[in-house]
Amino acid sequence: MSILEIKKFPNAVLKQKTSPVTNFDSELQKLIDDMIETMYANHGVGLAANQVGVSKRVIVIDVSKSEEEHTKKKQAPPLIVLINPEIIHAEGEYESEEGCLSLPGYRTIVKRAERVKVIGLDREEKPVEIEGTGLLSRALQHEIDHIDGLLLIDRIGRVKKELFKKRYKKSTLAVTDNK
Ligand code: NI
Repeated sequence: MSILEIKKFPNAVLKQKTSPVTNFDSELQKLIDDMIETMYANHGVGLAANQVGVSKRVIVIDVSKSEEEHTKKKQAPPLIVLINPEIIHAEGEYESEEGCLSLPGYRTIVKRAERVKVIGLDREEKPVEIEGTGLLSRALQHEIDHIDGLLLIDRIGRVKKELFKKRYKKSTLAVTDNK
């Protein structure tokens, strides 16, 4: 396994809609293992394949170690690997602070559905259905947004997004990363 480089805004790969996975081959298994290792190494609760430069519909999530889950003493499922995920049901609404490994140093309030139901395939190509509330719901929506080419700054309204772009450009964190 290896820790992969995380692509940062405004890298073009983050803005492209990714392609569904059709081959559950060893290359995919390696990508998944590397994504998991990269997520944990960066203390993330989720990671999408295009964040490591692979334009495919693969996401990994683990919210079980998060502070929010501990505070609420929830029993979050451990590591989730989802291929070709799709939100089939969403309800409620809640606002919470969110960050993203592709937008280092930036956190903002994002409105998300409170509860979602997601279907997809696991790494062995078996169908799975996951229902999430709270942080898990937010992580599922955030990562599925990624593979649809959307970042959390696409969810905060035009004015806040413009402000973000101005500040991010000036910030020293905005290292050129457009390979
Ligand atoms: Ni993200």
